[in-house]
Amino acid sequence: MSVIRAENLFYCYNKGTSFERCGVKDINLSIEKGQIIGVIGHTGSGKSTLAQLFNGLIKPDKGKVLLNDKNIWEDFADIRQVHFKVGLTFQYPEHQMFGETVYKDIAFGPINQGLSGQEVDIRVLEAMMFAKLGPELLNRSPFDLSGGEKRRVAIAGIIAMKPEVLILDEPTAGLDPVSKEGILNSICEYHRQTGNVIIFISHVMEDIARISDKVMVMDKGNLIMYDAPENIFSRREELNKMGLEVPQVTKIINKVHNKLDIKHKCVITVDGAVEDIIENMC
Ligand SMILES: Nc1ncnc2c1ncn2[C@@H]1O[C@H](COP(=O)(O)OP(=O)(O)OP(=O)(O)O)[C@@H](O)[C@H]1O
Ligand SMILES: [Mg+2]
Repeated sequence: MSVIRAENLFYCYNKGTSFERCGVKDINLSIEKGQIIGVIGHTGSGKSTLAQLFNGLIKPDKGKVLLNDKNIWEDFADIRQVHFKVGLTFQYPEHQMFGETVYKDIAFGPINQGLSGQEVDIRVLEAMMFAKLGPELLNRSPFDLSGGEKRRVAIAGIIAMKPEVLILDEPTAGLDPVSKEGILNSICEYHRQTGNVIIFISHVMEDIARISDKVMVMDKGNLIMYDAPENIFSRREELNKMGLEVPQVTKIINKVHNKLDIKHKCVITVDGAVEDIIENMC
């Protein structure tokens, strides 16, 4: 059964004005239980628009978003619940922090879900553990933290609501390699422990290749490809035409395969490359 599904989904900004811009056009797709979905696409291709449609922040002009087979806009009164069930961290979430302390920032969601004080405390501590934030940060101002820590606080704030679907819109953009690696590990750990659907938007193909079960490729508001990462990254020429690249390791192994005239198999991760080298070249 699909957890989340899009049917003929359309959304335009500034409708009926000379500034009208199409966010997404006729999107159809289904995401199954337990999957990590990577989303790639050139800037302005509609990734964030799709994320906001899934979370009910914006309403489709046409078509439906179905969460567990129910149209999320069927009953307007339920849309708040959808924000809790489909948790979304925005691009640069640190710009939207407002809590006086890390505790208050992370607790905001669970408090709005109507949980008791004790339940909120548990949710905050659990979320901080997932996001690898030490308890010593609880009473610090989120504004005094490092960029990586702020990003972790924002992610913890969403995890604390225990969403069925977690959407992360470029969670590692602009971070140093160590912070980036830490956030990727936290995402994988969260997935291992909960099995919840994760939608991960990124411009870093290596990260997409490493963690995704399936990858969506967006271009000019359209969903162009939706397939296993090996199948996506074996279509290098088509991706290049959309301004996208394949992971570095894929390019290197392709070159080696061509040079040695080995039948091509798409390699997308460093671990995959090691296996391929041992299998074909040792
Ligand atoms: N608030 C807005 N008002 C008007 N147009 C918008 C708005 N947000 C997005 N758009 C337009 O909708 C289209 C899709 O934008 P979207 O932000 O979804 O792309 P994206 O794939 O997330 O890009 P990026 O990789 O830069 O984050 C673009 O043409 C963009 O200019
Ligand atoms: Mg975006």
